[in-house]
Amino acid sequence: MLSAFRGPFHDGPPPEALEVVTPPLEQFGFAELRRMVVTYVVLTFAILRSMAAWVVRRQGRTLARAAADGAVDGFIVLGPTFVKLGQIIASSSGLFPEPLPSATRRCLDEVPPFPAEVVRKMITEDLGLPPQQVFQEFDDSPLSAASIGQVHACTLHDGREAVVKLQRPGIRPLMTTDLRIMYRLAGLIERTRWGERSGARNTIRDLHAVTFQELNPVVEAWRQDRFREGIHAFGDNKMITAPEVYWDHCGPRMICMERVSGIPMDRFDLMEERGVDGQLVLRRGAKVWAEAVMLHGPFHGDMHAGNIWVLDDGRGCYLDFGIMGELTGEWRQLVKDLFYTCMFDLDFTRVARAYRRVGVFPEGVGTDEEIGAQLGSILGPMLTGGMGALNLGDLITQSLELMKAYDATSPQELVLLAKQLLYIERYTKGLAPDYQLVGDAFIVKNIFPEEAAAKMAELGEPWPE
Ligand SMILES: Nc1ncnc2c1ncn2[C@@H]1O[C@H](COP(=O)(O)OP(=O)(O)O)[C@@H](O)[C@H]1O
Ligand SMILES: [Mg+2]
Repeated sequence: MLSAFRGPFHDGPPPEALEVVTPPLEQFGFAELRRMVVTYVVLTFAILRSMAAWVVRRQGRTLARAAADGAVDGFIVLGPTFVKLGQIIASSSGLFPEPLPSATRRCLDEVPPFPAEVVRKMITEDLGLPPQQVFQEFDDSPLSAASIGQVHACTLHDGREAVVKLQRPGIRPLMTTDLRIMYRLAGLIERTRWGERSGARNTIRDLHAVTFQELNPVVEAWRQDRFREGIHAFGDNKMITAPEVYWDHCGPRMICMERVSGIPMDRFDLMEERGVDGQLVLRRGAKVWAEAVMLHGPFHGDMHAGNIWVLDDGRGCYLDFGIMGELTGEWRQLVKDLFYTCMFDLDFTRVARAYRRVGVFPEGVGTDEEIGAQLGSILGPMLTGGMGALNLGDLITQSLELMKAYDATSPQELVLLAKQLLYIERYTKGLAPDYQLVGDAFIVKNIFPEEAAAKMAELGEPWPE
């Protein structure tokens, strides 16, 4: 057996590898111009071809749908940035007119992987040795291929089963150029009457910010590590995990980590078949996530079912730390105040105070007591159960609306947070429709230990592990 392999990050990543470098969006040079021509040609050709095909075979589609299908063909040819844009359009129906959301659903599927030779070359460059030497076994056909990267199974020399998550080659400059082009186009769209209120440039700005966070595998692995550490910070949460990062085998474009085996969180049918207590997994998972948000800092920002698994041994597992958020101190306090109030004393003056602290209310909008009373009269009855379930996702979404009404800018991080709550809600609907996260003191067991313990004693139900 070979002695243990030690790659460039065996002592942990160097600080410079953890910098998120985001190239400016406003620039437009020769590379952009050239790519813009390509984009234009590819999209025009794809749309025209699809429309021509529609003349011969309609397959029950409208012409608009055929054009949209053609555009998606073009997106797939043009690669990751456009596929990502398609994913955004597909998953924010309501924002874009049909047939766009339906046609772009295809972007949510897997994309063709990049070839094994490229994979081997990247690993050799990153680690200094080819995969056949670095690993005892390496599987050339990927477990999954997505727009930004792909995942391969492998086995370390000591027998540990692992995976390697690799970034697509050349993706950084490509996405930089594409985003600049999209930003330009968005600017044009906003100058038309139809598009002036579309917020097109904001959509691209958000995509830009998220993309360059996600494009740094070392940062991703680092956050995964920190999140994993946070899970067990209080010695509990034994039934939730995240794959251990194998730093010895990581490189600038690749993460090597523990391989896990399980099913996605929305396979409600399989969970029932396996006798998994879905509600319990949900509570445990939500507790870990809430602790990350309110105590540790970096929280998981992409909680769709593909990234949250129920492992074969019954543990819940977080995967994929490409997108994470972190609230600043004031906002974190606001979320804490919101949870505390909803769970323990319904004193919404506290929430009003928190909102004022973050600068949401303009001058002279009324006292904290007045606003608190108002909030309480709306939310209080819902919380005490009289009017059915209050959902926290809506609460935050409404807060964001409120901020808009006051012309205050809502931080991106809060939007990200609200999205995750909507995911949690989706799982709740499927797994435990009667369960109310805001009423479950288990979630804040480590955040407000005394109050939570008192509530548990009052209810007489011991907490799960
Ligand atoms: N640690 C792991 N163990 C087993 N499979 C994994 C692991 N990490 C990723 N995968 C597989 O690869 C897929 C994509 O990984 P993910 O980290 O979500 O990447 P992406 O950013 O492409 O979504 C997962 O849905 C899963 O099927
Ligand atoms: Mg994923």
